[in-house]
Amino acid sequence: MRIERALAEVSDVREPLRRAEALRRKLEPETARWAAELAELRERAAARFPSGWIRFATRRALEQSTREPVARERARRIAAVAPGCAVYDATCGLGADARAVSEMGTAVVAADLDAQVARCASLNLAGTKAVVVRADALAPPVHSASMFLVVDPDRRAEGARELDPERWSPPWSALAKLAGRFVGACIKLSPAFDMEQARGGVWDGALAQWTSERGELCEASLWLGVGAGELGGQREAVVLGPGTVGRLAGVPVPVRVALSEKVAGNFWLVDPDPAVVRAGLVGNLGRELGLDGLDPMLAYLVGPKPPPTPLAKAWRVLAEVPADPRKVREALEQHGFGAVEVRKRGHPDPAEELARRFRASGPRRGLVAVARTEAGHRAFVLEP
Ligand SMILES: C[S@@+](CC[C@H](N)C(=O)[O-])C[C@H]1O[C@@H](n2cnc3c(N)ncnc32)[C@H](O)[C@@H]1O
Repeated sequence: MRIERALAEVSDVREPLRRAEALRRKLEPETARWAAELAELRERAAARFPSGWIRFATRRALEQSTREPVARERARRIAAVAPGCAVYDATCGLGADARAVSEMGTAVVAADLDAQVARCASLNLAGTKAVVVRADALAPPVHSASMFLVVDPDRRAEGARELDPERWSPPWSALAKLAGRFVGACIKLSPAFDMEQARGGVWDGALAQWTSERGELCEASLWLGVGAGELGGQREAVVLGPGTVGRLAGVPVPVRVALSEKVAGNFWLVDPDPAVVRAGLVGNLGRELGLDGLDPMLAYLVGPKPPPTPLAKAWRVLAEVPADPRKVREALEQHGFGAVEVRKRGHPDPAEELARRFRASGPRRGLVAVARTEAGHRAFVLEP
């Protein structure tokens, strides 16, 4: 309470050093240091969680917390596949997932092994229906056979991002066993995680899902037991935009590349969302939207008009030339472009380096996509 009072009194001091100084005049040095850190963490939390529910945090736990729209989408799916089933959030961190579940009206027990983090969660979740406990995920103090498990392991075991799932906390093999004790489970994984590694009894019948938010791939999750619902054995891409949700599920099919000269004349280059690409569903998206692939190995599609979908972005192609800087500059200048942004697939050089080479002399800022096709590296001058 003393910290809260002191923070309220210095709330108009925004500059961190001046704020720390002002707090030192009100509190003893150690408490003032805590108060200054809390003020800084609250500012960071407010930027990341606009609804402002995170009042208590540690730096590390804040970095790891699930984005609000992603947590809400998970909670929505749990309520749909396991209606009326209470949830055990075994690694709750600051409580983002537990909060979203509770907002759906679902009962939730949230646990974390770290005492300080569990205390933060319990303060952040005050006023919700969530119950917070300090517990090891692998020894759940609940009746697991009647609950749905959410588990988001710590993938930064020693500070840095850890790619070996056996070094996560809890480790992957223990999580897979734990999940089997609940009626259903959602295991949150890194988007880079190789789902094939998840075989060994768990993968069969599971739903592998990749989620992006505002164009950024943010997580993969494995849905097990009742969690897989109708989509057992499939892959799903979930694309969260501002006020839009796109979903595409299926078993991957190859991209269909038309034999005809597909890129002649007026056409659109369609760039599937990273969640669709990571889920391996580019061929499925092409079929659903009636679009061809640009090349069997590339994740670009092409079509005669922009497809009405939140699952991909599309640009009208103004010119297509070999990715030779002189030819690209000529094409850009014909359309009045100068500096450009480059998007690329299958080209070894960094996009910034390509943008420097392609820079032309026109007044408009342009957009170029570079792709490796069967006909070599091609550049597509796009209507930005
Ligand atoms: C990635 S964070 C979870 C973030 C959370 N989903 C959120 O949105 O705030 C992982 C958490 O797992 C906790 N943890 C690690 N090992 C654990 C274990 N064996 N049992 C319970 N919690 C554990 C860590 O303390 C950390 O807070």
